[in-house]
Amino acid sequence: MILLANSEAYPGIEASARRLQAGEEGLRALVEGIKLVELDPRVRTVGYGGWPNVLGEMELDASVMDGDSLRTGAVGALKGYIHPIEVAYKVMTDLNHEILVGEGAAIFANEVNAVAGNNLIEDSKQVWWEKLEQAMTPEQQAAFPNVPLAPLSNNATDPERVRDTTVFLSSDINRKITAATSTSGWAWKYPGRLGDSPIIGAGSYADSRYGACACTHTGEMSIRCSTAHAVVLYMKMGMTLDEAVYEAIRDLDYLKDGYTEGVTIHAIDCHGNHKVVSLNCPGNITYWLWQTGMDKPEERQAEVIMTK
Ligand code: GLY
Repeated sequence: MILLANSEAYPGIEASARRLQAGEEGLRALVEGIKLVELDPRVRTVGYGGWPNVLGEMELDASVMDGDSLRTGAVGALKGYIHPIEVAYKVMTDLNHEILVGEGAAIFANEVNAVAGNNLIEDSKQVWWEKLEQAMTPEQQAAFPNVPLAPLSNNATDPERVRDTTVFLSSDINRKITAATSTSGWAWKYPGRLGDSPIIGAGSYADSRYGACACTHTGEMSIRCSTAHAVVLYMKMGMTLDEAVYEAIRDLDYLKDGYTEGVTIHAIDCHGNHKVVSLNCPGNITYWLWQTGMDKPEERQAEVIMTK
C-alpha cells in the first residue's frame, strides 16, 4: 500500500494512512483525510479558510477518481458547502454524470444532505479587500462590484497566495489506485473559474493498471497539457514512472505564452513507486508519503526543477 499527498495534506494525512492500514477501501480513506484538510483554517488554499474569488465569494473545486472502474466525480465553483470532496464523491456514486458546477452542484449538494456552511473566514475577507483596494481607484472602490472584473482579477494576482490545493493518491490493500483533490483555487480568481483540480485528466487521474497522478499550483498549465492523464498514459505506453513524470514536466515547460508559473507533479505507479517533481515553484516544496511498513507518514522534499 502507498499514500502520497502534497504538503497541504498535513491535517488529514495520518487519518488516511490509518484507514488504509486498517484495510479500508482507498477512495473512502482519501475522502476522509481530505475532509480534515477542508475543515482546517490553517490550510489557506482548501475549503474553510481558503481564498475567495475576486468578488469575495468562496467557490470550491474537488474531484475523485476510482482507478478500477475509471469512474470519476467532480464539482466546480461550489458555493456554501463545507466538504466539496464528499459532494464530488456522491456525484460519482449517485449520478450518471461525472462533473457538476455552480448552481447545479449546490442543488445536488443540498439534495444529498451535504454539510452547508460559510467557508469565508474574517482574515481571508480582510486580505482579499486590502489586495483589491490597492488594485482599484477610489471611484472603482465606490462602484465595486460594478466594475470590470477581468483587469482586477489579473492585476490583483498575488504571488504569496499560491494556486495550491490538496491532492491525495493511494494504492489500497486490494491494489486499487485512487485519486482525490480539493481546493479553493486561485486567490481572487474570476468568478466561475475552474482550475485543474475538478478536471479529471488535468489535475488528477488514476488507473489501477498503471498508476495515478495529481498536480498542484498553476492549474491553467496542467489543463493545457492534460498533465495527470499524460503521466498515466506515458506509463501505459511503456515509460517508467520517472520517465513519465519528466516527460510531463517537458510538456509543461514548453508552454511560453498565457499564464505560466509553477506546477508540482505528484505520481505513483502500480509497483509501489512514487515521484514528486516541482517545475518553477518558488519556496520549499514538500510532500507526504506513507507506505506499508511505516509507522506514520513522513514529510519529504520534492525534486525541484527551475527553468525560469
Ligand atoms: N491547482 C489548483 C488550481 O489551479 O486551482
